[in-house]
Amino acid sequence: MKYAWILIAFFALTACTETEEQTAVVDSTPDVVLPAANDGDASELALLMRQMFEESLDLRRKILKGEKPEISLDLAKIHTVEATEPEKQASESYKAWGTAFLNAVKLYNEAPLSQSKEAYTLMVDQCMNCHGQLCPGPTVKIKKLYLPK
Ligand code: HEC
Repeated sequence: MKYAWILIAFFALTACTETEEQTAVVDSTPDVVLPAANDGDASELALLMRQMFEESLDLRRKILKGEKPEISLDLAKIHTVEATEPEKQASESYKAWGTAFLNAVKLYNEAPLSQSKEAYTLMVDQCMNCHGQLCPGPTVKIKKLYLPK
């Protein structure tokens, strides 16, 4: 019986309780990302978040080379695509953090090359803000998007 509960607890893990074992980002080389466990039933929001993570890693790499690529994903969709927990997405705090995040994305895209690092860091801060409040699991992974000090 005890084991049955452990199994249930394991399968009940949502994207927000994702553990480091499921998605390992190697510390010293943030370019090396192992794919998340392919659960096949990830929500549209979870898939969009994974794409955001991938694009951010790419930005990070290019910014470190002195470039400033634009963010190309249509991120306004974070408010409309289907989520694992729709009530969370419909909450006032999700809407507020989502708006703050989209503003940071816009500021990043509009920033001159000389401000790319600051603008990128502010954008990652907004990922962390929403996640810290609503979805703490992936913060371990998101933190690795920060530029080296
Ligand atoms: C407004 C709130 C909010 C913002 C901003 C936000 N996230 Fe998320 N994120 C969520 C929620 C809620 C989920 C769970 C999605 C689901 O399961 O439907 C999630 C899920 C994730 C996941 C796990 C996806 C999976 O594999 O299941 C990752 C990784 C992630 N976000 C990265 C990011 C990154 C990187 C940023 C910034 C570029 C970001 N998030 C910005 C709320 C947010």
